[in-house]
Amino acid sequence: MNHFELRGGELFCEGVPLARLAGEVGTPLYVYSTATLERHYTVLRDALMAEGIRGEHGGEPLIAFAVKANSNLAVLKTLARLGSGADTVSEGEIRRALAAGIPAEKIVFSGVGKTEGEIAFALKSGVSEVNVESEPELELVSKVARSLGTRAVIAIRVNPDVSAGGHEKISTGKADNKFGVSFSEAERLYAKAANDAGLRPVGVTCHIGSQITDLAPMAAAFAKMRGLVERLRAEGHPVERLDLGGGLGAPYFNTPEPPPPADYARMIAQTMAGLDIAYSFEPGRMIAANAGVLVARVLHIHARPEGRKFAVLDAAMNDLIRPAMYEAYHEIVPVKPRPGAPEVYDVVGPICETGDTFTRERALPPLQAGDLVAFLTAGAYGAVMSSEYNSRRLVPEVLAKGEDWAVVRPRPTYEDMLAREAPAPWLSV
Ligand code: LLP
Repeated sequence: MNHFELRGGELFCEGVPLARLAGEVGTPLYVYSTATLERHYTVLRDALMAEGIRGEHGGEPLIAFAVKANSNLAVLKTLARLGSGADTVSEGEIRRALAAGIPAEKIVFSGVGKTEGEIAFALKSGVSEVNVESEPELELVSKVARSLGTRAVIAIRVNPDVSAGGHEKISTGKADNKFGVSFSEAERLYAKAANDAGLRPVGVTCHIGSQITDLAPMAAAFAKMRGLVERLRAEGHPVERLDLGGGLGAPYFNTPEPPPPADYARMIAQTMAGLDIAYSFEPGRMIAANAGVLVARVLHIHARPEGRKFAVLDAAMNDLIRPAMYEAYHEIVPVKPRPGAPEVYDVVGPICETGDTFTRERALPPLQAGDLVAFLTAGAYGAVMSSEYNSRRLVPEVLAKGEDWAVVRPRPTYEDMLAREAPAPWLSV
């Protein structure tokens, strides 16, 4: 469910007409809905709680929002107020989470290639846990912790070798992906960590992929994780935490409907029945995706006499790269749909490469130059993946709440863009 809807023939985000935002902020722009973010977070939390899935000390499970999905500080603050934690994969993301008021004890640090500096920053900040993905990393975390005179709280990331959903570029849980270690390696590394003065292993973690719409592969992976916890405990390790990653899909309209959080929670409760452990999760997409849209303006309709009709927008692949990168489908809705029979368009951006195509041969309500369109389900992996390719200014972001709204990342000026670069000394004479 989301809070973008047509009212009186035009698309609103909560109580704010998108056309007004486009007029005041300019296009392209991202618009996020506070109520949708809040709803997704609380629906997931309540579903987990209803199934008895608990965190530390019998409290709420840690829902560590995957900052990579949407790292805007206002979005993170909105979630922080509900009690959200953060799953982070870089020092920059840890800094963002802290700046948004997420306490360090709710921040998880993941990722296959953490640098020494990043590990030191994470440990000094007091993050809740470092999810370790390989043996060299285990050794590095230990070294950094010892040099700081501390013992790093870690979990071992396991690769359950399960194929799950999504595009091949976003599947992470197969043995040939770069993420995590095998089950047997996890046991060995756990024991090694337990005997290491720089490490305190507290649990195990997995994340098998993204945009998963079928619970079966998740259930298979989670059952294997349970088996691992039981084996480790049998070997005498007090395994306290189990982090089950993210991965639940969002509705993109062309894929199967993702399972409701209640079904996800029930599957976990069944798979883990009787296992006493503190759970954590790292959802990104299911919280942020349909809490955001990208609004763009039609620059012109280029109708070739031979037949193809291109709707050329002022948004491009640098603003929303998912169609170019993953052949992703985003529903496109005119902000003020015109009456009339649908027409078939290739919807493209202005960037000088064919990959800058949002969709081909899509039937849409008739479009004219100057019309606004919204790309739905763009709140996750949208603005965070934007760039300045073609020296286009970074796309701005707006957060709406009821009838209120605020620009939460302004569009830079061209002066800002140029001022970030400096000519080499020998070029300035
Ligand atoms: N935890 C870890 C360790 C992850 O690598 C990811 C996503 C998540 C959690 C969050 O997964 P989610 O709940 O959002 O599915 N850019 C791609 C998606 C890449 C996902 C990478 N990892 C896209 O636009 O589809």
